[in-house]
Amino acid sequence: MTQDELKAAVGAAAVAYVRPGSVLGVGTGSTVNAFIDALAAAGVPLAGAVSSSEASTQRLRRHGYSVVEPGTVESLGVYVDGADEIDGAGHMIKGGGAALTREKIVADLAQQFVCIADISKQVDVLGRFPLPVEIIPMAVAQLQRRFARFGGQAELRPQVLTDNGLPILDVRGLRITDPPALEAEINQWPGVVTVGIFARHRAQVCLLGTPQGVQTLRY
Ligand code: A5P
Repeated sequence: MTQDELKAAVGAAAVAYVRPGSVLGVGTGSTVNAFIDALAAAGVPLAGAVSSSEASTQRLRRHGYSVVEPGTVESLGVYVDGADEIDGAGHMIKGGGAALTREKIVADLAQQFVCIADISKQVDVLGRFPLPVEIIPMAVAQLQRRFARFGGQAELRPQVLTDNGLPILDVRGLRITDPPALEAEINQWPGVVTVGIFARHRAQVCLLGTPQGVQTLRY
């Protein structure tokens, strides 16, 4: 099976986690695109969706779903999103698509994070995928030096600004053996808006696309 077929399979599998008529949290990325398409194809009605990016908002609206502001919702039952990496405890690296801040905000509203990922995203230890960090521009050099002290090489992602108008550092060379601790540490650094470690907001369920079928992993 191709990676796109695996993404389509997990996108379709995630439809079963959506309560018809509910307000749903929706992430960002190519796997989420497959999920949105599958949701619409299955004709699942929603009271609304809280979206983590302009791209997902547009796709949801094209399918006729209404998108509501996060501030109008006190909590969400389910948030469905992809990941760049996921470890054996449901900790993730996210932000390859630059939507990490809004993704963390929407995930924070949700009682259950359902991660949809093809098997290439499954790792023992996070860090092979460069860690995205959304930052305030004046702190670039300072943060690059801080990451260097942690063994990471932080480079500005060229020609990319987030939906919040801010740059992203991609940090290579980290081996993230304690994701909750490193997330908490980086969150303290002045100039960091959001770090792409999702440990505090880890997945409770991962629908993992494998050539043998979709595996359901619970954490
Ligand atoms: C978006 O910022 C990311 O967090 C995505 O969830 C992640 O990059 C997965 O994207 P794909 O589904 O396109 O691999």
